[in-house]
Amino acid sequence: MRKYSIRPGNIKSIKEAAVLLKTGKLVSFPTETVYGLGGDATNSFAVAAIFKAKKRPSFNPLICHLENTESAIEFAQFSETAKTLASYFWPGPLTLVLPSRSHNSISSLATAGLKTVALRVPENSIARQIIAEARCPIAAPSANRSGRISPTTAAAAAAELGSECPLIIDGGPCRVGLESTIIDLSIGRPSMLRPGGITREEIESKIGPLVTIRQTNSLPSSPGQLASHYAPEKPVRLKAVKALNNETMLGFGQISGDLNLSWNGDLNEAAANFFEYLRTLDNGPGEIIAVAPIPEKGLGIAINDRLRRAAAKR
Ligand code: TXA
Ligand code: MG
Repeated sequence: MRKYSIRPGNIKSIKEAAVLLKTGKLVSFPTETVYGLGGDATNSFAVAAIFKAKKRPSFNPLICHLENTESAIEFAQFSETAKTLASYFWPGPLTLVLPSRSHNSISSLATAGLKTVALRVPENSIARQIIAEARCPIAAPSANRSGRISPTTAAAAAAELGSECPLIIDGGPCRVGLESTIIDLSIGRPSMLRPGGITREEIESKIGPLVTIRQTNSLPSSPGQLASHYAPEKPVRLKAVKALNNETMLGFGQISGDLNLSWNGDLNEAAANFFEYLRTLDNGPGEIIAVAPIPEKGLGIAINDRLRRAAAKR
């Protein structure tokens, strides 16, 4: 196994991360959603290394992370709707799929050859400083092997991909705990490709009704929305009220378990705990993970999206 180091996020480690990124190496760093595995999006060798490290199918494009809206506008065409969403939600857990500008420097490997590009300006200060120091768009999928549970701590990122990544910057647990919401503004009416850290209600309050793209296994506009994803090693049983003999249980609110996502039924707290608790139960005793029902509202919609994929046939 190759060596890697986990370093606390400070000026020194951030500069070191930027040097690695500028020379085509990969760095794992915290964002407010999940830990990312970052590489220079303009360097095809770095982007290829991301796909290889994650064992990710190369038809599944990556999100490019920018320091601010001004730099994002260099890479994509922003409609008025895009500008509105950026002004309300960037920096923050929102990704916009937009028509690429011709001649932009982002590797076509990162966009999987599409004419669109997924852009996001993260809010986490370590992420922002790394992007600013590296002075390039950073392609960063979640720092897990493809299809597995996303990491929300540096230790989880190390367990997933440490051997593939020389440096992991530790910024503590992620504030939101679920990936960014992805909104496609590249064709027709704005649509939601992935529920995430910004709720549908928040987005619709700014731009009106969104179209929801229904899940299929071969959706060309969002190849990442595969039916089985975010999956622990163990099978998952949903909407459980009590653990059976061979199960450990992830509780929520009144329905207790071996771990409880939020005793007082707070969906934001549940989101922040979700991936880490799933990982803990996956590494513990029991053959199956039973999960209490999660209300289908607010961040519960994004949690249920991850749970359905975690429980899907593999
Ligand atoms: O919160 C997040 O978004 C995290 C952190 C690290 O920023 N990143 C993340 O990346 O979740 P990843 O690679 O796990 O998910 C990227 C998603 C995939 O579902 C992919 O298909 C979609 O974005 N995507 C990327 N480019 C796209 C495009 N041009 N059109 C449609 N979907 C796109
Ligand atoms: Mg992911």
